[in-house]
Amino acid sequence: IIRTLATIIIAYLLGSLNPAIMITKLKTGKDIRTMGSGNAGFTNVLRSVGKGPAIATIVFDYLKGIAAVLIGWWLFSTLTVTNDVSPIEYVKYGRYLAGLFVILGHSFPIFYGFKGGKSVVTANALMLVVDWRVFLMILGTFLIIFVCTKLISLGSIICAMLYPVYTLIITYFCDYLPALGTENELRFRFVLISTGCAFLVGAIIIFRHKDNLKRLFSGEEKRIKAKK
Ligand code: G3P
Repeated sequence: IIRTLATIIIAYLLGSLNPAIMITKLKTGKDIRTMGSGNAGFTNVLRSVGKGPAIATIVFDYLKGIAAVLIGWWLFSTLTVTNDVSPIEYVKYGRYLAGLFVILGHSFPIFYGFKGGKSVVTANALMLVVDWRVFLMILGTFLIIFVCTKLISLGSIICAMLYPVYTLIITYFCDYLPALGTENELRFRFVLISTGCAFLVGAIIIFRHKDNLKRLFSGEEKRIKAKK
């Protein structure tokens, strides 16, 4: 229980550190949430502040996501498990738990009145640490949509919908089926946990894009153009 609480608190606090807000404040003295789309994230910094601050924002958001997931991984890897759950499975729980809470911290930060970003970059960091195959599939999908439409929000929303689908495909067809015969129940449980977590992460991201969805449907969503 202490490890679970520590993972939740550390991940949430790390997620609550919002570089888009901090860097924009330093650079312009303004609150990024009053500029452009009002979002405290990479896309809006690129649109409203400039390329340099946007790159700094994306790097910071990636690093905090990776750090949180690695901390969850490390905290849970020191567990000695007695009941029917194997230590390996616990380690995987730790990564997802940290991932979920760093995303919640990013979207609803305690330091900034619970009004943060849309968690796209932070979720990408989680994907990268948890499963590089899913990460590459998501990245590929995003790039195709972005190159064709120049709409970052559309790419983010479609990738959020596909995240649980890709996770299910990879964990079931590449991990579970080929290893059938050994620890079936355990492996199948992990297919369900991974897919369930990916679904939750996707749902948070889509919920955070509700204004973008309205703009996309009414044709008012702006294609990305970096501020010089
Ligand atoms: O990274 C968030 C992106 O999908 C949308 O951002 O600023 O266009 O609402 P924004």
